[in-house]
Amino acid sequence: MRTYVVTGGAGFIGSNYIHYMFNKYNDEIRIINVDKLTYAGNLENLKDVEKRENYTFVKADVCDSEAIGKIFEENDVDRVVHFAAESHVDRSIKNPDVFVKTNVLGTLTMLNAAKAAWENPDGTFKEGKKFLHVSTDEVYGSLSNPEDFFYETTPYDPHSPYSASKASSDFLVKAYMDTYKFPANITNCSNNYGPYQFPEKLIPLTINNALHGKDLPIYGDGKNIRDWLYVEDHCKGIDLVQEKGRLFETYNIGGHNERENIRIVHIIIDTLKEELDDSDPRKALVSDKLIKYVTDRKGHDRRYAIAPDKIRKEVGWYPETKFEDGIRKTIRWYFDHQEWMDHVTSGNYQKYYEDMYSNR
Ligand code: NAD
Ligand code: DAU
Repeated sequence: MRTYVVTGGAGFIGSNYIHYMFNKYNDEIRIINVDKLTYAGNLENLKDVEKRENYTFVKADVCDSEAIGKIFEENDVDRVVHFAAESHVDRSIKNPDVFVKTNVLGTLTMLNAAKAAWENPDGTFKEGKKFLHVSTDEVYGSLSNPEDFFYETTPYDPHSPYSASKASSDFLVKAYMDTYKFPANITNCSNNYGPYQFPEKLIPLTINNALHGKDLPIYGDGKNIRDWLYVEDHCKGIDLVQEKGRLFETYNIGGHNERENIRIVHIIIDTLKEELDDSDPRKALVSDKLIKYVTDRKGHDRRYAIAPDKIRKEVGWYPETKFEDGIRKTIRWYFDHQEWMDHVTSGNYQKYYEDMYSNR
């Protein structure tokens, strides 16, 4: 039975990945979820797997080399899928330090622990061991020519403290692959959306605010473009890269689904109106009139767009979920999980929202 260490498994993509993997492999794998449970980590995301015998949760910081080393000493770990990170660009602009700590030093700690456990005395690595570093398209910077796309060969040009910290972590993984032939892959993915996404990000924030008749904040002119991918498609891509990808390679994962932010918000409003019953009092609250243009994000990247040619050609991955279907599924998930949303928006979230959006 193969053993996976999944870091950041209580977050948005990590928890979707754990669900995806148990749905696909059921009892054939074991997952150890290592998460510090920051504001973004939520064990409620994993309620339906927590009683499985082949699932373990360990509360630990990826920067804590002792705690991480112990996990590798006590378990014969075959795979690492490293999601744990500070992930929100706006927070990185206000408070960069924790981004460097978790994203850079945390990645280094994970690399060192896996290397110590997997390296043979002659410097080769044990058969079948693999580390997958989950990264972002933001490391490539911003595209200005509408005909350009991000390829694996596109030079790194990060602009925010978040993307700079992710770029640094990618370089560390690359350095370990080049220097030690450490068995790893990097995936650089575009914007994800779907169930369990924390409502600091554009899509869940818009859904939640619209249902409460609150302003829908649009940064700048609303014409920044992101390339949206349904989270399950990302999880499938990660698994395929570990199963079929070539070691030491980077794979870009993206949706070929570029949209301006303002367009995304209009689609959400229209879909909410279609999905809500006439008798539902929230229907009257959802309106284009809630859209409010606010001060732009500092250093706001204009356009991201992934060319997923390599991953399609080499491992047969492609984005399966059309945006209109994915957003409908996502909205229905949020309808069915109002309690989840109530929990994550209580307490500290109110203060975060105040700090980020009042007088903006
Ligand atoms: P998230 O913020 O929802 O979750 C991050 C998780 O990491 C949380 O569970 C949190 O508790 C945990 N964590 C944070 N600091 C930790 C630490 N020091 N030690 C242990 N655990 C810690 O993030 P997400 O959106 O699920 O992103 C996951 C990964 O995917 C990140 O590496 C991110 O850079 C990358 N990524 C995200 C997107 C996206 O659109 N969300 C796109 C491409 C790549
Ligand atoms: O591209 C991949 C990246 O996508 C990931 O690496 C990051 O972890 C993830 O957070 C995401 O980054 P973005 O900054 O693109 O996502 P966010 O949802 O914060 O913003 C999407 C776009 O919407 C961006 O252009 C900023 C804009 N925006 C965002 C918020 C929260 C608004 O206009 N209003 C808002 O209130």
